[in-house]
Amino acid sequence: MPYTFARSQELFQRAQRSIAAGVNSGIRKLEAPVPLYFTRGSGTNLWDADGNHYLDFQLGQGALLYGHAPAGLADALAAQARLGTHWAAQCELEIEVAERLQAMIPAAELIRFNNSATEVVTAAFRLARAHTGRPLILRCEGHYHGWADEGLVGFANPADKWGDDENPARFHPSKGVIPAVLEQFVVARWNDPEHLRRRVDQFKGQIAAIVFEPALCNTCCLEPVTGLMSTIRELCDREGMLMISDETITGFRFGASCAQGYYGFRPDLTVLGKAIGGGMPFAALAGTREAMAKIISGEVVHAGTLNGNPLCLAASKWCLDQIRALGAAHPAGIQKLGSRLMAGLTALARQHGVPLHPQGPGLIFHTVMLKPGAAGGAVRDYRDYVRRHDAPRWAHLRRCLLEEGVRAIERGIWSICLAHTESDIDEALIRAGRAFQRHAATWQTTA
Ligand SMILES: Cc1ncc(COP(=O)(O)O)c(C=O)c1O
Repeated sequence: MPYTFARSQELFQRAQRSIAAGVNSGIRKLEAPVPLYFTRGSGTNLWDADGNHYLDFQLGQGALLYGHAPAGLADALAAQARLGTHWAAQCELEIEVAERLQAMIPAAELIRFNNSATEVVTAAFRLARAHTGRPLILRCEGHYHGWADEGLVGFANPADKWGDDENPARFHPSKGVIPAVLEQFVVARWNDPEHLRRRVDQFKGQIAAIVFEPALCNTCCLEPVTGLMSTIRELCDREGMLMISDETITGFRFGASCAQGYYGFRPDLTVLGKAIGGGMPFAALAGTREAMAKIISGEVVHAGTLNGNPLCLAASKWCLDQIRALGAAHPAGIQKLGSRLMAGLTALARQHGVPLHPQGPGLIFHTVMLKPGAAGGAVRDYRDYVRRHDAPRWAHLRRCLLEEGVRAIERGIWSICLAHTESDIDEALIRAGRAFQRHAATWQTTA
């Protein structure tokens, strides 16, 4: 029997009387049929307030690279909690975590800690402007860099506001943003090195940094085309701009040296979040000594009461040690599992006549649902995605999956974690088979 969600419905009704809109992050409202309330997680398993069991591929928006509630992490947190959760001062743990990052990521010569990647992105932009004395940041369509004023310019422009192909618009989805923020950005399309060169030339001498998700996980898991990373590096060196790799999702998921090791490039600044804390509110800015100079001199302000708090540090130390212990087995292990899941979903889609197309490097992937009549083949960039993705039909399948106990991110992003096993993938595909069957039968009647 498909799942029902009466208790979550009841809790959501109650929440709306005390929590604005009933949720604490806007996107959580997107979960259909209702924002779910969870009671327990263990490994790859998650249970909601109605007692429904899920095989989880949402994984705390990708942060839980080690699965839910791993025993070692719980022990590390408990031990630290007994010693103290917050000192707003120094402790040896912060050096231990920073030294691990230095050892794992060649471009991480120096580190600063924060509690969210949104904060780190803001710090990186400030640092880049101070370092170069220039006002603009170049960013690409479809890349998400946190929810602050500066993070969202040009992230997901609606089609009627995205500007022409050569001049993507500086649109911000939120009201209340400082109007001048929009003028501080140049937006480019992703995965078109020649277009990027033209954008840089157009704003010559004004751009402080190029920021990007090295694999565009927030839109279709688009890996960089050959030559893109070397083009960005070359442009940054030639023009004196900083190269900022936002590895909030890719960090440690793509291996101990992150996506920069996986694809072989060396940024000036790196944004780390999610998996660095395994579900604790922890994030870091890593950079070359030269790029971090204005933080060292104090000319750039970087602060925060909870920065480098011992509880988050204890979690991070445990997380990083898991990655280091895996050596060459990571990310190959999760990539193999993810690729099997992608292949299984592709086979189910074909079997049930559903135009679903998983794409991505396996460690994480995106399921794109093609609109009727849309051309097949991999999605190329954000505009291509908006043109071809059938969002209502994906939402219908996603709900069928949820009701069979398979949970992916609402937008269609699936993450694999170190706790997933071959039998989890088998079980997920059995459940997905039932979901596809129900979707194929009911979508035709409801569309
Ligand atoms: C690439 C990227 N950068 C930055 C952020 C912001 O991270 P946080 O939610 O920790 O502030 C996210 C969050 O999903 C992200 O995916």
